[in-house]
Amino acid sequence: MKLYSQIIFPRLCEFLLNRPLVGRLRGELLVHARGEVLEIGFGTGLNLPHYPEQVRKITTVDPNPGMHRLAQKRIRKTGIEVDQRILSGERLPFDDLSFDCVVSTLTLCSIDDVHAALNEVHRVLRFGGRLLFLEHGASPEPGVQKWQRRLNWLEMRLGEGCRLDRNIGALVTALPFSSVEMDEFYLKGVPRTHGYIYQGVATK
Ligand SMILES: C[S@@+](CC[C@H](N)C(=O)[O-])C[C@H]1O[C@@H](n2cnc3c(N)ncnc32)[C@H](O)[C@@H]1O
Repeated sequence: MKLYSQIIFPRLCEFLLNRPLVGRLRGELLVHARGEVLEIGFGTGLNLPHYPEQVRKITTVDPNPGMHRLAQKRIRKTGIEVDQRILSGERLPFDDLSFDCVVSTLTLCSIDDVHAALNEVHRVLRFGGRLLFLEHGASPEPGVQKWQRRLNWLEMRLGEGCRLDRNIGALVTALPFSSVEMDEFYLKGVPRTHGYIYQGVATK
């Protein structure tokens, strides 16, 4: 449904994800961004104000044109050049080893074929390059997991394909990265079904 996915949902993301606590986590993660950067699931561009000075250009992918439109205001305000592509992270039109850094925030939950997207991320990263991720996903607590599975159908409808029960840590560590540093915690003030966070840096 175009009205929901391209008009309402981008505004909902803007409202729900533009929070000081999430902003602080974005900032903590993005201090590690360097060189040529690719951001997957760019959304409304909420990461833009958190990139460090040395990042002058980023390439972004997101299949939702409504997100693309809503991001324009933020893009105009930043000094960063943004090459914004309306396409999916599952098949990236970039050469192998073409980026120093890939950023994914609150996106891996929504990508249909997340294995394909993560393989693409790994493929386009240079050796020594880093995947910076800040994602929500499966809680380690069985009681919470049970509710995550129960609520998935609703979340997928309201959140345009967002799954609550993906084990992001397991997905990232399954790839042949040379190291993965990761923190896991519940986000304060968010229901545990929706606020179990995986934040980390995976180096190729
Ligand atoms: C919850 S929003 C997060 C947006 C942004 N990353 C942020 O942190 O505010 C999830 C984003 O993933 C995007 N998305 C969904 N499927 C995708 C895919 N296959 N490839 C890339 N991005 C996708 C959605 O369009 C949406 O912009």
